[in-house]
Amino acid sequence: MNVKKLNETAKEMVANCKGILAIDESHGTCKKRFESLNIPVNEENRRSYRDMLITAESLSNFISGAILFDETIQQKTSDNISFPEHMKKIGIIPGIKVDAGAKNFSCHPNEKITEGLDGLAERMLKYKELGARFAKWRAVITIDNSIPSDACIIANAHALARYASICQEADIVPIVEPEVLMDGNHDILKCFDVTNKTQSIVFETLDKLDVNFSGIILKPNMITSGSNCEDQASTEQIAELTIKCLANNVPKDVPGIAFLSGGQSDENASNNLNSINMINNNPWKVTFSYGRALQLEAMKKWSGNNNNNLEAQKIIAKRAYLNSLAACGKYSLELENS
Ligand code: 13P
Repeated sequence: MNVKKLNETAKEMVANCKGILAIDESHGTCKKRFESLNIPVNEENRRSYRDMLITAESLSNFISGAILFDETIQQKTSDNISFPEHMKKIGIIPGIKVDAGAKNFSCHPNEKITEGLDGLAERMLKYKELGARFAKWRAVITIDNSIPSDACIIANAHALARYASICQEADIVPIVEPEVLMDGNHDILKCFDVTNKTQSIVFETLDKLDVNFSGIILKPNMITSGSNCEDQASTEQIAELTIKCLANNVPKDVPGIAFLSGGQSDENASNNLNSINMINNNPWKVTFSYGRALQLEAMKKWSGNNNNNLEAQKIIAKRAYLNSLAACGKYSLELENS
């Protein structure tokens, strides 16, 4: 493990108010998103959609890295350049999702465990060869009446730590993503309690498995009200509780935190990140690693028709720009209509 190299890559991923573009949707998730817009689901459409995104002009001014999927990292742009090669050329670090998805957790109804550790060390070397410098693994924690169980948090934390250790052995920076889902009618305090406990167990387990904190990026959920909660918390409450939770749990050595959007609207995801960055004196960089909140409007504009590429590219570039402003506390809602 080359700690210096890991730390340099991690710092590069969160530098200069840039964030990470998540375009690592599995075939299943991509199918769902395409079908909702009547876009034919096939390999060429998945390729040309991702091609449109990563070739958007000025994207690298706001985006430091992009997370690809197994199929995507092996695809090429219309100019016949491999995606990782193109990204490297324009200054976007290639990353790769390596988990095999969240599956039903044995003996624990309605809970999930993320799989994909078998053969991971070998796959990691293949991805490294293809150009990946960081990876992602997402654990899913669900809030409901009697869940999450401790067992679910512990099992997922252990898998995250095993994954992170395998990444670091290959000098690949692990994005550690313990996502507490927004689904449900719970209030923001419940989200705080569950996320606080989850992050605490995740960092304890990473430490026990000798993961080097200076060579990881944390990708957490923000602390928000459940999406069906009637009493939605303000952006100031979200920022205050999110920072409190991170301060409780995230070691100072961790170079950066890059939030997932988790189903928040584009505006909320930008505004909440901005509010979080208005709170000063954090030891880590705090930025975004959004999927839906960066892409969905661009996907709608593209709609499976490459004649719409330029307009769709303007949309993704604008969202990346606005989130980059939010990553340094310079965003305001008025900018949405400018
Ligand atoms: P969302 O921003 O859409 O939550 O996706 C981020 C991600 O990478 C989920 O694993």
